[in-house]
Amino acid sequence: MIYLDNAATTFPKPKSVYKSVMEAMTKYGANPGRGSHAMAIKGATIIYETRELLAQLFNLDDPMKVIFTFNATDGLNMAIKGLLNPGDHVVTTEMEHNSVLRPIIELEKIGVENTIVKCTSEGKVDLNLLESAIKNNTKLIVTTHVSNLTGTIFPVEEIGKICRRHEVLYLLDASQSAGVLDIDLKKFNVDFMAIPGHKGLLGPQGTGALLINNDIELKQIKEGGTGSLSSSLEQPNFYPDKLEAGTHNLPGIAGLNAGVKYILNRGIESIYSHEKNLLDIFIKELKKNDKIKIYGPESIEDRIGVVPVNIEGMDSSEVATLLDTKYKIAVRPGLHCAPLAHKAIGTDKIGAVRFGLGPFNKKSDIMAAVKALNEISL
Ligand code: ALA
Repeated sequence: MIYLDNAATTFPKPKSVYKSVMEAMTKYGANPGRGSHAMAIKGATIIYETRELLAQLFNLDDPMKVIFTFNATDGLNMAIKGLLNPGDHVVTTEMEHNSVLRPIIELEKIGVENTIVKCTSEGKVDLNLLESAIKNNTKLIVTTHVSNLTGTIFPVEEIGKICRRHEVLYLLDASQSAGVLDIDLKKFNVDFMAIPGHKGLLGPQGTGALLINNDIELKQIKEGGTGSLSSSLEQPNFYPDKLEAGTHNLPGIAGLNAGVKYILNRGIESIYSHEKNLLDIFIKELKKNDKIKIYGPESIEDRIGVVPVNIEGMDSSEVATLLDTKYKIAVRPGLHCAPLAHKAIGTDKIGAVRFGLGPFNKKSDIMAAVKALNEISL
């Protein structure tokens, strides 16, 4: 199988990730932070080390403000619902995934207002429009770093500056960019960042984190055991325990630990340049076929290796089924949990076949996909 669905989850993972998960399961699979025996301490040590690795990768001072979550959706919900109160206003964009849009729409029921800023057919946001959406009661701006539909890279540093100018908090959804693009939370003025562990960071599914780059106390959206202050009936008020109720996903976090080490060793620049080379070849080749419509930014400088396409006169599911069954190529068709982004690029009725390039794809994978699409389009 040629795997080109890395925007949904990366596959394969580095061998060290599988080994690390197995070791956690078979050698020290106790409950971290809930006992003082050697196995529990080993688990807690791996968890702390993973907080340090993520803090290092994203330039966050305090590893205790790396909050483990089950995915990016979990972290986005924690930040959005933990920050916003009735009467507050939040600004976001049409390119967001439902993991941002649905919590924001849900909060309308308790009186949290929102503005969803329109985007272009290339999936770009107009910074003037974004800035002019800020009102007196705006507390938060939430944007994606990279659209999961078009691969468009958002000008995060500029958005961070707008947030500082207006004293508004910035929550970044780095679902597609973490592990692919360089992210410096301090330089970008990002207050909160939600990341999945299972995409660019190459960890297992069921992992993720919310990184907190400020002194604001988020309200927790769930309570439970933390292994700390156990005589108290109230949730501890310090990070990470405040936001990490219940047993950790130790095997997952151990795998994520190995994934982040792989990235730190190979280097973000090298991963990004590998992906960019493949992207360049893919787009240049696809452009030779008039029957293939490519969505997203014209310039490869403005996008990463997430490429939605359609073949004239064909349904995206039909194309994906042929790619799967006849050519053994894995992609994602249809709508991609980002309904307003599809509207912005004009695919809300027809969907699109999304190719997600990853760090282990080779030029031959890309050429096989091009050949298959050309044959299907005949
Ligand atoms: N959010 C993931 C995607 O874009 C699952 O496919």
